[in-house]
Amino acid sequence: MKTTELCALVAGLAYFEVAHARNIPNIGQTAPKVVSLSTQRKGIPNPVHRDRLRRRAGSVEASLDNQETLYFVNATIGTPAQSLRLHLDTGSSDLWVNTPSSTLCEERSQPCGYAGSYVANSSSTYEYVGDWFNISYVDGSGASGDYVSDTFTIGGTTLDRLQFGIGYTSTSAQGILGIGYPVNEVQVGRAGKDAYDNLPKAMVTAGKTARNAYSLWLNDLDASTGSILFGGIDTEQYMGTLQTLPIQANAGVFSEFLITLTAVDLGGQSIAKNQALAVLLDSGSSLTYLPNDMVQTIYDQVSAEYDSSAGAAYVPCSLASNTSTLDFTFTSPKISVTMGELVLDLVTSGGRQPTFNDGEAACLFGVAPAGSGTNVLGDTFLRSAYVVYDIDNNQISLAQTKFNATTSNVKEIPTGTSLPGATVVSNSVAATEGVISGSGNGNASVGNTKSSGVASVAMSVSTYALALLSAGVTTYATLY
Ligand SMILES: *[C@@H]1O[C@H](CO)[C@@H](O)[C@H](O)[C@H]1NC(C)=O
Ligand SMILES: *[C@@H]1O[C@H](CO)[C@@H](O)[C@H](O)[C@H]1NC(C)=O
Ligand SMILES: *[C@@H]1O[C@H](CO)[C@@H](O)[C@H](O)[C@H]1NC(C)=O
Ligand SMILES: *[C@@H]1O[C@H](CO)[C@@H](O)[C@H](O)[C@H]1NC(C)=O
Ligand SMILES: *[C@@H]1O[C@H](CO)[C@@H](O)[C@H](O)[C@H]1NC(C)=O
Ligand SMILES: *[C@@H]1O[C@H](CO)[C@@H](O)[C@H](O)[C@H]1NC(C)=O
Repeated sequence: MKTTELCALVAGLAYFEVAHARNIPNIGQTAPKVVSLSTQRKGIPNPVHRDRLRRRAGSVEASLDNQETLYFVNATIGTPAQSLRLHLDTGSSDLWVNTPSSTLCEERSQPCGYAGSYVANSSSTYEYVGDWFNISYVDGSGASGDYVSDTFTIGGTTLDRLQFGIGYTSTSAQGILGIGYPVNEVQVGRAGKDAYDNLPKAMVTAGKTARNAYSLWLNDLDASTGSILFGGIDTEQYMGTLQTLPIQANAGVFSEFLITLTAVDLGGQSIAKNQALAVLLDSGSSLTYLPNDMVQTIYDQVSAEYDSSAGAAYVPCSLASNTSTLDFTFTSPKISVTMGELVLDLVTSGGRQPTFNDGEAACLFGVAPAGSGTNVLGDTFLRSAYVVYDIDNNQISLAQTKFNATTSNVKEIPTGTSLPGATVVSNSVAATEGVISGSGNGNASVGNTKSSGVASVAMSVSTYALALLSAGVTTYATLY
C-alpha cells in the first residue's frame, strides 16, 4: 500500500478570463450580434478545499456558488467604462462587483487589484435600485450592499441598465458573473422580491439574443482556448450530434442544471448501470463528485489512494497516458473522459512534484466521493463535453467536445424550442435519486422570446497558473 506525503495544491486546474475578441462569421443575411472574448488560466490554491466549502450544505445554492469559480470574463461597467474581470458562474444568478472603498479592497495587499472594482459615483449612468443586495457563504464569508444598475459591456455587446450588486462589504476579492436561473437571484431567495433580468435574460430582453440559452465549451485541460456563446452554438466545437435532455426539477422547481445520469463505465467495464441519478452540471466545481460506491469501484480499478482527510484520491501521474476512458451515459449521449483529463498535476508548497513512498509521481484524481452531498459533474467532466444550457426550455443539450477546435461555425439559437442540428432524446430517464421529486419534474416549459442574435464570449486559457507558480505569487495551501 502506498502512502502519500503531500502538502500540495493543484496547478493544472484552470480558471479563465476573457483575453481577446475573435471574429465570428456572419450567419445568413441578418448577421447576429455576437459578443466574443477569450480567457486566461489562473491557478486555484487548494481546489479540494474550495469544492468542500461549496458543497458543505449538501446542496449547491446560488449563494454558495459565488465565492470562487473557475472561469473569468472581462467586462466593463459604467460611463466612462470601468474594467473588471468577473468569475463566470453557471451555478449562481447574480452579477456583483467589489468597490475599492470596502475594507477588503483597502487592505495593504490590494486583493481587489487583480479583478478590479467599481466606483458607482464615477459613472454618469449609475442608478440606485435598493439596499437589499446580500450574498453569504457557508464558510461565513459574503458580500452585501446595494443593488444598482448601470451600462454593462461584454465582448462588444452593451446592455443599458443591467441590475447588479455592489459589495460595499465583501470578503471575496473578485466579482461574480452568475448566469443561472433568475429564480436563484438572492433578491428572490432572500428579499422575497420578483426576479430581475440577469445577464443572459437581459440579453434576450434587449434583443441581443433570441433565447435565454448559452453554450459552454471549456476545452482541454492543456488547451489555450474556450468559449461561451450567449444565444448560439458553435457546431465546430463538438463531435456528432447534440442530444437534448430535460433538466430535472428539484421539488417541482427548475432552478439548477440537473440532468439524469444513467450509467458509468471505465475502460469498457461497467461501474454502474440502470441509474436514475440526478447530477448537477457545475462549472464552478473543480472536481466531479459521484456516489461513494461508484467512486470506490473506480478507485479500485485505477489504483487510486484515497485520502479521507483530503476527501480526494491520488493516482500515479503516469495514469494520464492510459488510453482507457471514463464514460458517462445520460440515456443518450455517452460522454467519454480520457484519463489525461482526470489526472491533475500537484505541486508541493516547496514547488516540488509530490511522490508516493516508492518515488512514483503523485497526481490528484478528478473524481471524488459525494458522500451525502449533491452529485456534481464539475470541470473534470465538463471539459470533455459541449453543453448548451437552455434556461427558457429547461433543457440541456450535450455532445462530446472537440478539443482545440480551430474552425468556427456559429449558429443562432432561435426562439421556440428547437436547437439547430440537435436531437431530442426519446424516453429519457427521469431522475429518481438525487432530487426532491415534485410536479415540475421533467416538464419543460417554453419561454417567450423575441428578436434574434447570438452573443458569444470566447475564452483563451493562458499558462497564467504556471507563471504564478514559478513567480511564487500563489499562496500554497495544504490539502487536508
Ligand atoms: C482582460 O483584462 C485584463 C486586465 O485589464 C487585461 O490584462 C487583459 O489583457 C484583458 N484582456 C483583453 C483582451 O482585453
Ligand atoms: C455618491 O455620492 C453621494 C454624494 O457624495 C453620496 O451621498 C452617495 O452615497 C454616493 N454613492 C455611492 C454609491 O457611493
Ligand atoms: C446579510 O445576511 C446575513 C445572513 O442573513 C446577515 O447576518 C447580515 O447581517 C446581512 N448583511 C446585511 C448588510 O444586511
Ligand atoms: C490541445 O492543445 C494543447 C495546447 O497546445 C495541447 O497541449 C493538447 O494536447 C491539445 N489537446 C488535444 C486533445 O489535442
Ligand atoms: C489502463 O488502466 C486500466 C485500469 O487501471 C488498466 O486495466 C489498463 O490495463 C490500463 N491500460 C494501459 C494501456 O496501461
Ligand atoms: C406539465 O405542466 C403542465 C402545465 O402546467 C401540466 O398540465 C402537466 O400536467 C405537467 N406535466 C407533468 C409531467 O408534470
